[in-house]
Amino acid sequence: MEYSKASYAPEDNLYQVSPVQGELRTRGPLNVGFQVTRRCNLKCVYCSEPPNLPDMNMQQIAYAFKNLKKAGVLKINLTGGEALLRKDLREIVDLSNKMGFHTAVDSNATLVTDEMADFLSGKLVYFETTIDGKPETHNRVRGKYDEVLRGATKIVARNIPLYVAVMVLGKSIDDLKHSLVVANELGASKVKFLSPIPKGRGKELPDEILNNDSLLELWGQLCEYVGKTDIKPQITLADWKKIGQGSVIIVNSDGSVVGGPSHGEDNCVTHLGNILEESVADMWKRYPHKLNHIRKYTGETMYIS
Ligand SMILES: C[S@@+](CC[C@H](N)C(=O)[O-])C[C@H]1O[C@@H](n2cnc3c(N)ncnc32)[C@H](O)[C@@H]1O
Ligand code: SF4
Repeated sequence: MEYSKASYAPEDNLYQVSPVQGELRTRGPLNVGFQVTRRCNLKCVYCSEPPNLPDMNMQQIAYAFKNLKKAGVLKINLTGGEALLRKDLREIVDLSNKMGFHTAVDSNATLVTDEMADFLSGKLVYFETTIDGKPETHNRVRGKYDEVLRGATKIVARNIPLYVAVMVLGKSIDDLKHSLVVANELGASKVKFLSPIPKGRGKELPDEILNNDSLLELWGQLCEYVGKTDIKPQITLADWKKIGQGSVIIVNSDGSVVGGPSHGEDNCVTHLGNILEESVADMWKRYPHKLNHIRKYTGETMYIS
């Protein structure tokens, strides 16, 4: 089987995939979210990844990385839970880089110390954190607003590209604009608006938040606002209805691999297998949502300003 040539451009966080006989055929996923732990120091009301799974040890993580490499994965987002709770995170970051993966860290930023920021400097394509609107709103749904901003400031001070994620938790534009303005002041290079997924604690969110019929209207207002101001970061919106099922591939902290969001399936995921037991390339062969993954990561199904 001949596979597509795939590459990743850190400047715009997008992948290029060349078709083979008109088809986009990759050996495995382009990008995976790799949960180094499910433990967390916060308890966000909508958290899709509650602390109900064990962690892999370093040896298992090294095995998993080799498996991902063989499947042609280009980028790993080290995530969780809260990745910075992992005592050996530095070793994991170094191994990911050594194996040639573009490496990002997704973290709530509250545990970023000067020492950790110094260590991460020069090692990441970006550091991503979440700011959910005005301090009172953010603190209601996540907590530790001031610590998040303090952590993010340390990251930017080391010239590590900062991405800010924002959950769209209703129909009001004010909190979304607040996150955008703060991200701009921090010097973020990208702001990613995310619609919530009914997974984990997210299942308990009210229907008008999960099925937000104002999503595109809010997106229009955000784009108009960016056009009228000197807001610098690029903005994106993930609308899962447009992206389709199973586009995001996650290696859970226990080694199970899932694709999501898969609305209508148990806990909103499609199971691929276990990374410690089977080759990711084999799992990928039978995965029904391959094209949704590729189209999301090449930017085809994302809203991008
Ligand atoms: C699970 S968190 C892990 C990283 C880190 N603890 C954090 O919160 O930034 C990764 C991303 O998923 C988002 N997220 C959490 N629950 C979600 C849900 N139910 N639907 C959509 N995104 C969610 C978070 O806001 C964050 O941007
Ligand atoms: S969303 Fe992130 S910070 Fe919040 S509880 Fe979940 S893992 Fe922790």
